[in-house]
This record gives sequence, structure tokens and C-alpha cells, in this order.
Amino acid sequence: MASRCLYLFLSISVAVSAGQRLHSSVDELDQVGIFALHRGNKEYVKLLEDAGELLPNIIHRSIPFNSSLERVVVVGDVHGCLEELHDLLHKVNFQQHRDLLLFTGDLGNRGPYSVQVIQEIQRLGGISARGNNDDAALAAWEAYQKGDPIPLIFDWVKELPVEDARWLYELPWSVSVPHLNLVVVHGGLIPGVRLERQSLDDIYEVREVVPLDRAETRWRMVQKGIEEGVAWASIWDGPQYVVFGHDAKRGLQKGMAMATGLDSGVCYGFKLTAVVVDARMGPLQMQGLQAGNGAGMNGNLQYVSVDAHKRYA
Ligand SMILES: *[C@@H]1O[C@H](CO)[C@@H](O)[C@H](O)[C@H]1NC(C)=O
Repeated sequence: MASRCLYLFLSISVAVSAGQRLHSSVDELDQVGIFALHRGNKEYVKLLEDAGELLPNIIHRSIPFNSSLERVVVVGDVHGCLEELHDLLHKVNFQQHRDLLLFTGDLGNRGPYSVQVIQEIQRLGGISARGNNDDAALAAWEAYQKGDPIPLIFDWVKELPVEDARWLYELPWSVSVPHLNLVVVHGGLIPGVRLERQSLDDIYEVREVVPLDRAETRWRMVQKGIEEGVAWASIWDGPQYVVFGHDAKRGLQKGMAMATGLDSGVCYGFKLTAVVVDARMGPLQMQGLQAGNGAGMNGNLQYVSVDAHKRYA
């Protein structure tokens, strides 16, 4: 437990420099609106400069309709656990020609094969949302390139080839499959706020929220360690169905109306989990709040887990 806390502390302290650079640009993003932002747009170019090139080409990625798509396989936080990823893809019988492979982010750190996981996902045509650990790893990679010291937990970035670092830089904050009403993010979304108006920090950091008004119509992320809130996903009522990671402490969260939490703590010796969405059954819609085990979603969600080979962190 002590080492786990230390790791957490180290990864947070490295994340801060990247986060700070991002912060001013996030405020500006809120003013100009994210959808207009692409590299061809001069507002975006300015933000990119302010953010020190940290922002990817596409912040919110959207997958177009594709008639040969049969399933979407969304995998939770892999954290360098390559063997378990192979086990899981084998168990779901992943087939690249018919399955879209998505990830909730936090691809590296803690497990033994961070670089290999990042390379394997590219080889399989997978697309990941950006996790806070992915961002922190990039900050460490940049520091290492400049000859600055980096914390031990990020030692693996020394082996990360520049083309793989570039791929990490391009991880979007969300990946949507609009025709299935599905969005994949790392942390979560603030209830009542449209995707394109969400703060980028919230999207990969949020676990809990507190109400801003007594009617509980508006929410914000808790200040960590200072206040307690409720799981954002327990309040989220759409419009999109959200699959997320980041919350290994709560583990697999599948009892909610419009969200599923997939971080089942593989790097802590628990499980790696995927949710398989049947793409031929139409969009994910709320079936009434008693959705129960989450399979109430037209019956088109299936959960598949594999055990960790060992405890890595
Ligand atoms: C359609 O989706 C499948 C499965 O993800 C993929 O293999 C194929 O390349 C896609 N086709 C197009 C035209 O995008």
C-alpha cells in the first residue's frame, strides 16, 4: 500500500507540469469552443503554442459509421499488462476485420510492458482515450529528452521510440461512436455538461462530483483530499452512454443507467476487463433506471474479464 501511494504521488507530481501548461489553454478552450479546434484553425494554433504542443490534432475523436463493424470491444486501463491484454483479446475472440478496439487510457505505468502495450495497440488498430498516466508519461518522456531526471515509475519512457511518443501525443480526450451513442473517456464527464463543453482536466481526472446548487442540477469535480462527493457515473443520465476507466478503487462499475466503469485493477493483481458492444443492435439507450446489471442496455453489453498473472504494484 505504501509503495502504491508513493507511485501515485510521483505520477501526480510529474503530471503537474503538463497539467499547468494545459490549464490556461483549457480556460481558453471554454471560450472558443472545442469543436472548432483543428490544426488548421488559428485559434487552435495559438492554443497549441500556449500548451507547448501538448494538445493532439483531434481532441474529441468520432468514429464514422462502418457497415462491416460487428462489435466494439472497449478495454479498461491496461497499465503495461501485456500478457493479460493478450489473454483478454483471446477470450473475446477479437477479430480486427469486424471489431473496433477501444481503450479507456492509462496504457502504461505499474505493469511490466508499457512500451510493448503501446506498440501492440497500434498494431491491432486500437484507439485509446487519453489517461492522466498517459499525459504524465509524455511529460516524463519530454523531461528525459531534455536530460532532466524522471521518477522511477516512468523509467520505461526511456525505451519509448519517438514514433510511439508521437502516437501518445495524439491520444484524444474522448472517442465517440455516434451511431451507437457511445463515448469512451478515461475519467468521466460532469453531469449536465455537453461533451464539447467539458473541461479537459475533468475528462481524464474526475471520479467524484459535488452539486453546485441545492436542486442538484449542476455539478463540479471534488477537490481531491478536501471534500467527498459521489461517483459522477451514478448521476450521469446521458445523452451518451459512457465507458470509462481511472477508478480502480471502485473497480468494475456496471450497475448504472448510462455508464460503465472498466478499471478492475489488473496492475494491483485483480482483473483486466472489457465490455463488448454488439454494433448491430443499435444505439445504447437508457432502458429505465432499474437497468440493474447494465445488461439492460438492449442486452447488447457483455462483460469479459481475465485475471492478472500477478500483482505488479
Ligand atoms: C470498418 O471497421 C472494421 C472493424 O473495425 C475495420 O477493420 C475496417 O477497416 C473498417 N472499414 C473502414 C472503411 O473504415
